Amino acid sequence: MNQANIIAIETSCDETSVAIFNDKLEVLSSVVASQFKWHERFGGVVPEVAARAHMELLNKSILQALQDANMPVSQISAVAVHNGPGLAGALLVGLSAAKMIALGLNVPLIAVNHVHSHIYACRMSAGKDIFPCVGMVVSGGHSILFECQTALEMKRLGGTIDDAAGEAFDKVAALLGLGFPGGPAVEREALSGNPNEYAFPKSFFYEDRLDFSFSGLKTAVLYTIAPPGQARPAIVESGKKRADIAASFQKAVVDVLVSKALQALKKTGLKRLAVGGGVVANQTLRQKLLEDTKLNGIELYLPEKNLCTDNAAMAALSVEAWKQGIFTSLDVDIKPTVF
Ligand code: KG4
Ligand code: ZN
Repeated sequence: MNQANIIAIETSCDETSVAIFNDKLEVLSSVVASQFKWHERFGGVVPEVAARAHMELLNKSILQALQDANMPVSQISAVAVHNGPGLAGALLVGLSAAKMIALGLNVPLIAVNHVHSHIYACRMSAGKDIFPCVGMVVSGGHSILFECQTALEMKRLGGTIDDAAGEAFDKVAALLGLGFPGGPAVEREALSGNPNEYAFPKSFFYEDRLDFSFSGLKTAVLYTIAPPGQARPAIVESGKKRADIAASFQKAVVDVLVSKALQALKKTGLKRLAVGGGVVANQTLRQKLLEDTKLNGIELYLPEKNLCTDNAAMAALSVEAWKQGIFTSLDVDIKPTVF
């Protein structure tokens, strides 16, 4: 049988991304067009702006991906798309484009779940099967634990009841005057700080439940910067206090994430852990995951850094569906809140 080539589209949030991969999971091209300059001045992602930016960037990204892969459209065998979860307007742009390409080329459409793809990024980086495993996704929009019996069977075990881990990084970065996106900025600032200077709250840490909550932690950081009743300084002076807050905040998030992942492994009896999403680009998190899984006899799978944050290459999850002949009707809708 000829090699199958799939073109994939990701527009769930603020990256416009298109990738082409084959059924051997070889990524032939991967374009990620950042919308940073559209959102920077708002200090966060504005949904309406994201949708408009996808409109502007998507066609160029599709053409670029075909050119980078040196592939005529006639060699495309299917179109994959993340149709949720994510921002409704942003998802609509990607899904509409995917449907039109599938219709125009008369090839199957394969809609996959963006969060599941974050876990599949670990499978791609591993270069071998990683299922069954516990999957954890820690990103700007999500903090979720899954029991993954196969790539196509991911059962939600728990997740955040308020902010996502990446969102907490972004909000704390804003409180500390570190800019946007906050994760890498907080990580940099934390390098020179003492992670044990402030004992920030770790929600549900001692509880037997597989959920997260980061809003109390964010408030604790705010009150460390400016106690209740006092005016908040426009920016926290750079220096020891700012670095210590960043390092102590990062430690609290990392401790909670790693302990909940280990709890999920214990509950399910599974021996493999795959962690995906933008926050897993964080070196402190990666290091603690490595140490604690080793101590507990767990195989750990992490994506390479370029597969951590949002991208279309991780939609190679669609190859699993392709192999089983599972295709999606062109009537499919966006699923902004489905995990
Ligand atoms: O997966 P992603 O690109 O988008 C979503 O699906 O949400 O994740 C983006 C999130 C942002 O909140 C960003 O601040 C966070 O990942 N992030 C990090 C790091 N790099 C990105 N958080 C902590 N440390 C990092 N190095
Ligand atoms: Zn994501």
